[in-house]
Amino acid sequence: MKVIYPGSFDPVTNGHLDIIERCSKKFDGVIIAVLNNQGKKGLFTVEERIQLLKETTKDIPNVEIDSFSGLLVDYARKKGCSNIVRGLRAVSDFEYEMQMALVNRKIYEELDTFFMMSSPEHVFLSSSVVKEVASYRGRISCFVPKVVEDALINKFKGGI
Ligand code: PNS
Repeated sequence: MKVIYPGSFDPVTNGHLDIIERCSKKFDGVIIAVLNNQGKKGLFTVEERIQLLKETTKDIPNVEIDSFSGLLVDYARKKGCSNIVRGLRAVSDFEYEMQMALVNRKIYEELDTFFMMSSPEHVFLSSSVVKEVASYRGRISCFVPKVVEDALINKFKGGI
């Protein structure tokens, strides 16, 4: 049984990698699906995010990296996979995640969303927080792998 792990991954953090690693042991395959949202420009392009995901997951078995645009349910149908996984950090994530899971299931009945609790050391971690710290030249080596740290430093080297 495969699972789709959708998200923005702008950029991938140690929190995402923890979920990917644990899912790769529980499922036969993990399809990491990067949202390609034309209307929402991220710090990294979708190609850059995919590249960083490729480099940081190269030692994790059963991982496939892809991108999608439009509705997640349409992508899931196209992939023939009706399992979604999302990481849950704190109660504050719950309302948004529950809404998404229920809407998705309403429009694609077979779709199930699995929630994986973040490991305690990643509960506070998000791509947004990492970008904020990096933009002020703060230390981010404890939040992201080296290759992502370098990419963030490079993004902000000319200033915010
Ligand atoms: O990492 P993120 O930004 O929390 O991921 C959110 C994501 C990509 C899972 C979500 O925004 C999504 O699935 N977008 C695709 C559009 C869609 O299907 N929207 C309906 C959900 S209610």
